[in-house]
Amino acid sequence: MVEPLIKTDSAALPEPDDEAKKRSRLLLQCIKKECDCAGGQIRFSEFMNIALYQPGLGYYSGGLQKFGEQGDFITAPEVSPLFGQCLAGQVAEVFQNIRETSDEKSFVIEFGAGSGVLAVDVLLQLEQLNELPEKYLILELSAELQNRQQQTIKHKAPHLYERVQWLQQLPDDVANAVVIANEVLDAMPVECFRINNEKTETLMLAVDDEKLLASYMADDSLDDRVNAIRQRSEIELADGYRSELNPAIAGWLAALENKLKRAVIFVIDYGYNEKEYYHPDRSEGTLMCYYRHRAHGDFSWWPGLQDITAFVNFTDVAYSALDAGLEMAGYTTQAAFLLANGISDLHATQVTDEVQQQIKLSQQIKTLTLPSEMGERFKVIALTKNYEESLKGFSMLDLSNRL
Ligand SMILES: C[S@@+](CC[C@H](N)C(=O)[O-])C[C@H]1O[C@@H](n2cnc3c(N)ncnc32)[C@H](O)[C@@H]1O
Repeated sequence: MVEPLIKTDSAALPEPDDEAKKRSRLLLQCIKKECDCAGGQIRFSEFMNIALYQPGLGYYSGGLQKFGEQGDFITAPEVSPLFGQCLAGQVAEVFQNIRETSDEKSFVIEFGAGSGVLAVDVLLQLEQLNELPEKYLILELSAELQNRQQQTIKHKAPHLYERVQWLQQLPDDVANAVVIANEVLDAMPVECFRINNEKTETLMLAVDDEKLLASYMADDSLDDRVNAIRQRSEIELADGYRSELNPAIAGWLAALENKLKRAVIFVIDYGYNEKEYYHPDRSEGTLMCYYRHRAHGDFSWWPGLQDITAFVNFTDVAYSALDAGLEMAGYTTQAAFLLANGISDLHATQVTDEVQQQIKLSQQIKTLTLPSEMGERFKVIALTKNYEESLKGFSMLDLSNRL
């Protein structure tokens, strides 16, 4: 996401309309039902899963605008087609290398395709490069977004629509794949924890009188995981320290390793290495909520109407990948990745004499690459299976040794 225009507290957010509030109350009833089934309270990750993905009512599964200026946040593909065009250049390099040793077809698999605009930009550029995949497969949790992606592709690249296929789960029969996950891991449900008397406690939620009530509960298995993190990255977490942990990354990567014979996986997201993620100064964690381009920390504000997200711990992504049997092929900033994939040259081929268009394009490049914008907050990690060749996106700067 682009840096929000305003950082605020939830009291200063614009008031949702009555219809939206009604939907949020319905979602709260779903959360209450889950709490009742679980004996009174649920883990934060379960709450986040319902708040974002409850069919018809969750933030990503309901009909809200979400992306772009009329929505709540702006992602890189929404900023500029240059983002997808650079990524396509990287995909093309992988496809070319694979072709040298394999006769089997190559696929793109995109997770969480949002509005569908990244799929359009990648496909159109791959077409230009004469490197179209056999199929462009999309795995998307939200039925509403799947629908929106279909409309976007039909509208912007109708001749390539037949090449795109939406799947409910990873396919069994894909030989060669490039996997793209842009801002997907930050949208996966996390556990929130705090350190109390040197032990890890997990955040639990209950619903009482149409309000979410938060409390912490001792959690031995989370404590084991947090202790493992403390040891491997030599991290001190003082009493009172609060943060998050994504419990789904390991399973997600293991499934990719299990299903794909040969793959290069690109995870692009805002995040840090573990030492920065759990830095003493970040003692209130990384969880953020977005509503109408305002960022705040109150996850209990009108569930279902706002995005809830946490930064990605890229060291954990790397360790989980290695545990799953994948290899690390590179880790860098979004700026370095885009520059190494020729964003400047692409820009040069697209500028016209029209001043407005020149200003627009250079503004887009700044947003994608400047350190104060998305350039350094966002990272790219590449994980591979049965792929040995180097990847040009990491040729300018590889920060793997900082993980
Ligand atoms: C922040 S949006 C990013 C959308 C898009 N990639 C972009 O950059 O504009 C997160 C997306 O990931 C999807 N998502 C989250 N977890 C997922 C999962 N495990 N599998 C597939 N999609 C997922 C959401 O439904 C949503 O489309």
